Amino acid sequence: MKILVTGGAGFIGGNFVHYMVNKYPEDVIVNLDLLTYAGNLETLKPVEGKPNYKFVKGDIADRPFIMDLFEKEQFDVVVNFAAESHVDRSITDPGLFVQTNVMGTQTLLDASRQFGVKRYHQVSTDEVYGDLPLDRPDLFFTEETPLHTSSPYSASKAGADLLVLAYYRTFGTPVTVSRCSNNYGPYHFPEKLIPLMISRALADESLPVYGKGENVRDWLHVSDHCAAIDLIIRKGKVGEVYNIGGHNERTNLEVVKTILKALDKPESLIQYVTDRPGHDRRYAIDPTKIETELGWEPKYTFDTGIAMTIQWYLDNQEWWKHILSGEYSNYFENMYGDRLH
Ligand code: NAD
Ligand code: TYD
Repeated sequence: MKILVTGGAGFIGGNFVHYMVNKYPEDVIVNLDLLTYAGNLETLKPVEGKPNYKFVKGDIADRPFIMDLFEKEQFDVVVNFAAESHVDRSITDPGLFVQTNVMGTQTLLDASRQFGVKRYHQVSTDEVYGDLPLDRPDLFFTEETPLHTSSPYSASKAGADLLVLAYYRTFGTPVTVSRCSNNYGPYHFPEKLIPLMISRALADESLPVYGKGENVRDWLHVSDHCAAIDLIIRKGKVGEVYNIGGHNERTNLEVVKTILKALDKPESLIQYVTDRPGHDRRYAIDPTKIETELGWEPKYTFDTGIAMTIQWYLDNQEWWKHILSGEYSNYFENMYGDRLH
């Protein structure tokens, strides 16, 4: 099989490329990424040079480029991770989120239709369901929960999901959609909560906690997300949505305190800052469908996964320090500069 992975220089896409290149040497993985601020080819160093892996730089919303690429490569499967993914940035610049997340998805759908892709998989998020109240721990998002978004980020992801499902209903495009809870693990860009707090705590810098730190997220180790997507593209039913989550709810304050404890740093580093506008209170996934229909189950609890992740950040300081210093953005030029025409 020839599989197009978009956004494979980002956090989850990068982990997925590693997972697929190593697990399926007989498949060919083509990684298409625009290398925005969030794309980092240093993440792909372990797979560069493998015969079943190739990198292509480009924009999922660039229609002529995408049509040419699909015509040339004749992909069997498309897995779309490429997106603007940070809620705080979507509050500053909503238009970019519509452009990449909605227009980019539509472009990929058109190309998938035109060139007979056998499966288009959309990597979505539980944020399309909006949020749950803090005082109702009995409530969870199911695949039937209405879409009810809060941020320009989640609204753009919901728009993309609706397009994907419309292409199935209207044109019979063979699609699947997954909606996962918050991920953590290796190669996570240090603007998101967990890697930000680890890198700042290691530098003895203050840790900015929004509001009172009582918002709840449902954390899943990225490798469990990758395994779930692999299962869905092979065994999932066309036209279906699958929620992915492992019942690992924590308040933000609990997460930050866990990190401080593991690094032996004082809680006095915590600094409460003004809350995010429209801040979603609680996310919590009901994963019954993917567990019962596809037999997926997570390998890691939050306690085991966060310990591994903190260790990874300690062992790979060069990776995130290059990001903080801006050096990672020179990697493409250094690596590919003289190979570009
Ligand atoms: P990320 O920001 O780390 O990576 C996004 C990647 O997409 C980057 O490499 C970037 O260069 C690339 N990209 C951006 N615009 C592009 C464009 N126009 N064309 C080609 N490439 C482009 O994001 P992530 O956290 O790895 O998230 C990946 C996907 O998973 C997103 O679709 C996101 O909505 C979804 N998701 C994320 C989480 C999470 O906790 N991070 C949870 C559920 C779902
Ligand atoms: P984030 O990693 O941005 O993911 P999302 O908003 O998509 O869930 O944030 C996770 C939670 O942590 C969210 O409730 C906002 C909060 N947060 C902070 O308190 N401080 C921070 O500096 C950041 C980046 C996030």
